[in-house]
This record gives sequence, C-alpha cells and structure tokens, in this order.
Amino acid sequence: MPLIALLAGDGIGPEVTAEARRVLDALTLDLIFEEALVGGAAYHATGHPLPPETLALAQRADAILFGAVGDPLCDKLERSLRPEQAILGLRKHLGLFANLRPAKLFPGLEDASALRPEVAAAIDMVIVRELNGDVYFGEKGMRTTVDGLREGYDVMSYNEAEVARIAHLGFQTAARRGGRLCSVDKANVLETSQLWRDVVIEISAHYPQVALSHMYVDNCAMQLVRNPGQFDVIVTGNLFGDILSDQASMCAGSIGMLPSASLDSAGKGLYEPIHGSAPDIAGQGRANPCATILSAAMLLRHSLGMREAADRIEAAVGRALATGARTSDLGGTLTTHAMGDAVLAQL
Ligand code: NAD
Ligand code: IPM
Ligand code: MN
Repeated sequence: MPLIALLAGDGIGPEVTAEARRVLDALTLDLIFEEALVGGAAYHATGHPLPPETLALAQRADAILFGAVGDPLCDKLERSLRPEQAILGLRKHLGLFANLRPAKLFPGLEDASALRPEVAAAIDMVIVRELNGDVYFGEKGMRTTVDGLREGYDVMSYNEAEVARIAHLGFQTAARRGGRLCSVDKANVLETSQLWRDVVIEISAHYPQVALSHMYVDNCAMQLVRNPGQFDVIVTGNLFGDILSDQASMCAGSIGMLPSASLDSAGKGLYEPIHGSAPDIAGQGRANPCATILSAAMLLRHSLGMREAADRIEAAVGRALATGARTSDLGGTLTTHAMGDAVLAQL
C-alpha cells in the first residue's frame, strides 16, 4: 500500500491538509498516512524546522502531501532555523527540481478573478518552475563594504545541466498540452538568463512539435494580466516562477485555488498548494482548502498513477464551485471545513 507522508506545517497548513485528507479517505484507496512535524511547528518542538525523522519519512514515503510552513514568531531566527528552510531543504534533499503549477479558471469563478470576466475565463496554463537552483541556492550572506556599510548578497546562477533538465520537462509538458512553450527570463540584463535562453534554444531541437517563444519576465508579468489566455506552458527559473505563479493565481480567482507538484527525475513528488501559512487568517477556519485538495489529486495522478481518482477529485471541486460553494477569498461565507464538505458531497 502506498505510503503518504503528511506534513501539515504551520498556520493554515493543518487546516487545509485536514480537508485534503478527508477527500482522500473518502475515496478508500488503501493509502497509508504517516504524519510528521515540519516548519515552525517542528522548530518549536525539536529546535529544528526539518528534523531528521521528518526528512527520513519524506524519503521513505511514496509521495508527500505538504501544507505550508512559515511562522512570524520565527522571522528573527538565524536563517538556517527558519520554517522556510524546511520546504527548501525537502526540495533540495529529495532532488525535487521541477515544480508544476497549473493555473486555470474553474467556471463560475470569473467574478473572483482580479481580471475582467472575459479575460479571466481564458486562463488555462501551466507554469513549469525550476526548483533546485537560481538565487535561492547560491552563495549568500551579509558583509561590510570598505566604506563600513552593511551589504547583503545572494548569488544567482544556473549551470547548463540544470537548465536542460527543466527545459526538457517544459517541452514535454507543452507537447502533451497545446504545443506552445514560452521561456521566461531576463536575458537582456542577466548572464544567468542568457545561458538559460541559449540552452532552451538548444533543447528545442528535440521538440520540433512544440512552438517555442521567449519573453522577458517584466513583460510576462504584464502579459499575464493583459491576456493570460495567450499562455499554454511557461518554463522559468526558481525566483521568476515563484512570483509569476502567485500573480497567475489571482487571474484564476484566488491563491487558495492553485495546487502544485514538485517532482524529481523518477516520479517521486511533493504536493502542496502554492500559498503559504497565511498567518493573517490562521486559526479562523477561513482558508480555502481547494488548492490543497487539488494538490492531492495531482499526487494521485503523478506519483501513484491513479488517474481516475485524480479526475474524480478535480471534477468534484469543479461541481462544488458550480453549486456556489465559496470560501471568503472567493467572495463566499463557507468555512474551510464546510468547503471540504461541499467537495465531499460531489465526489
Ligand atoms: P501567503 O500565501 O501565506 O498569504 C498571502 C495572502 O493570501 C494572505 O492574505 C493570506 O490570507 C491569503 N491566502 C493564502 N492562502 C490562502 C487560502 N488557502 N485561502 C484564503 N486566503 C489565502 O503568503 P505570505 O503572507 O507572504 O507568507 C506567509 C508565510 O508563509 C511566510 O512565512 C512565508 O514564508 C510562508 N510561505 C510558505 C510557503 C510554503 O510553505 N510553500 C509558500 C508561500 C509562503
Ligand atoms: C513557495 C514559497 C517558497 C518559495 C518559500 C516559502 C521558500 O514562496 O513555495 O512558493 O519561495 O519557493
Ligand atoms: Mn511562493
């Protein structure tokens, strides 16, 4: 029986993963769940945001369902002890280099989008975000300049192998969808991006069926709100992908709607909503659990090969929304648990 590591984390993490767990349980798929502490919760209990037992469970499991990490009480800790290091550590230790972030508008959510309904309705895209490199994992630190000024630095770099493996996944994702791949970079300024663009062009020779285009990230941010329907698949680096996916979420109605899969090269994956621990609404039962429920569907599809069950969950979310079920981020009044009930009722 497949083992799922359930890492709920902080803030709204436990609230939204509880609803995803109820949905998975209702499908009676014979999954085994094992829970472990992660993030601020793990720091407070053990002194470390990613305890060895949690990492070991994640390594042993067939897939990981992750809530969110982040705790304002930890923001002044030295960086290596902060909750965010847990998710960064899991991505790095497990070699989860590819982050798929699908953004589409469920019918009925046009009014929740920050865009005009007819513009919003067209969004149906996947952001393929590189997850193991970039400025996130370069040398970083604080130093003093010769003038005695404090200076922070973070080195941005990608080598060609790192770019090539995410480019392949971008092309393969586009080949299975609309056949259009847009590579997003800042090659007009950054050497990292020049290499990115050169390598993506080289890899494109293997995928003649995919139409490749390039866009600077600043223009991309603008195009996403002007006309998100123009995009099929975007492939981009760690930092740009982080920012653009939060933006894409509001085109699709709410950050509480976007799931994600973080994959290694062998099919192992960690599945989490793109949002964080939302300390501003934590403990109030107001969080939208749909992103996490949809992440559970991605888990079934990508790591366990359970396509039918994944389809069932996604269809149930769609039907629940079509009946008018809405948490407050979508303009409704349902609690997190009631939204979970609405999805369960449609399974
Ligand atoms: P956030 O995504 O937690 O919240 C941003 C805004 O969106 C908040 O107003 C929040 O209330 C709202 N929101 C987020 N998820 C929601 C949901 N499911 N339903 C309704 N509203 C929702 O981002 P932030 O406030 O910048 O960060 C808070 C903490 O989360 C920080 O510590 C940050 O580092 C962390 N974080 C963690 C992850 C992760 O675990 N992968 C991702 C992003 C941020
Ligand atoms: C995300 C988050 C993380 C990131 C943080 C918490 C490290 O914003 O998962 O989108 O920047 O990747
Ligand atoms: Mn983010």
